[in-house]
Amino acid sequence: MSGKRLPYARVGIVGAGQLGLMLCDAARRLGIATCVLDADPASPAFARADDTIIGDRFDPKALRKLAAASDVITFEIEHADTETLADLQESGTAVRPSATVLDTVRDKWCQRAALERAGVPGPNAILWSGEGDDRSPLDAPLDPPFVQKLRFGGYDGRGVKIIRSTEEKPLRGASLVEELVNIRCEVAVLVARTPSGEERSYPPVRMEFDPAANICTRCLLPAGLEDDVAKRCRSVAIEAVRALGAVGICAVELFVTGDGRVLVNELAPRPHNSGHLTIEASATGQFEQHLRAILDLPLGSVEGVRPSVMVNVLGGEPAGSPLVRGYEEVLALPEAHLHLYDKRPSKPGRKMGHLTVCAGRIEEAIEIADRAEALFRVSG
Ligand SMILES: Nc1ncnc2c1ncn2[C@@H]1O[C@H](COP(=O)(O)OP(=O)(O)OP(=O)(O)O)[C@@H](O)[C@H]1O
Ligand SMILES: [Mg+2]
Repeated sequence: MSGKRLPYARVGIVGAGQLGLMLCDAARRLGIATCVLDADPASPAFARADDTIIGDRFDPKALRKLAAASDVITFEIEHADTETLADLQESGTAVRPSATVLDTVRDKWCQRAALERAGVPGPNAILWSGEGDDRSPLDAPLDPPFVQKLRFGGYDGRGVKIIRSTEEKPLRGASLVEELVNIRCEVAVLVARTPSGEERSYPPVRMEFDPAANICTRCLLPAGLEDDVAKRCRSVAIEAVRALGAVGICAVELFVTGDGRVLVNELAPRPHNSGHLTIEASATGQFEQHLRAILDLPLGSVEGVRPSVMVNVLGGEPAGSPLVRGYEEVLALPEAHLHLYDKRPSKPGRKMGHLTVCAGRIEEAIEIADRAEALFRVSG
């Protein structure tokens, strides 16, 4: 049996936010070295990576520098210069997921079309290519109510608008017009897939949102679905990831509808907020699993997950240098796992950390998470 000197591999990460930070932590534990690339030198992952590059994700030179420092390039954010990434792939750099996957995913129309071609169920959608600034819902290819989504650049609900009447003003820019789905609940399924074709899906996680800010506030595992619906979520999610050919962790956001359908809303080809609870609740956390998958290593177990609730810690008013309240009280709670991302400054609505509570039963986890949420605050 031949040995391998450590570090086992060098992973280059595009983006150095909290997802990058948690990837670096998982890598360190596995004897894998990391190099992160981000334009903002105050990015949280800079303090946890072995190597850092200050540079823009759209700067070819910066990406080439990252490639030179890495055996594999991966992403905590899917928006980057895919032309350079495709060139790098051509010349032998492993880019996982590939530039093609990133191109498909970040254009919501291409993503939807690719899923539809593969027969993956999703909301009915039509392209609304008109560029005029004074568009009216009357020009749209569907009658209101419908959901308008910008083709490019949306995140955390920005770039998505529900148009309920012809009086409402649509968003500017090329868009998709989608049927307004009667959503019973929104869930996410994480799928891990290796270049060799090994695949595993995690049990569905229920996502809850702040309706005003359109930001995910909580995730619950199990999602409270009937066994057959949960099973369908997992198989639809795998089909979606296969259709795109993504490798690594890919989060598939799903709608479970009032009439029992499972529809794919969208994919994120990277670790995802809905998977943070897997760090403590699963035998293999999503960050470790992502590293295993992109390095074509054996995937870790996703079975035997524990009931858990993840609460996003969002910055409150006012903005400023982070001030934490309820720290000791939260740490006194049973099985409350605190993760702070060391972001400065704290700003209202900014993701400053998260808290995962595991328990024997989901009701118990919810009860402790409620207490934690009432106690804990980060603001300026
Ligand atoms: N067809 C639809 N019918 C009903 N509601 C929808 C539809 N599409 C999206 N929504 C609602 O809008 C939210 C945001 O949509 P979507 O996930 O596509 O946008 P996003 O900005 O990329 O989100 P994020 O980056 O936060 O995941 C969804 O979580 C869902 O609540
Ligand atoms: Mg979404």
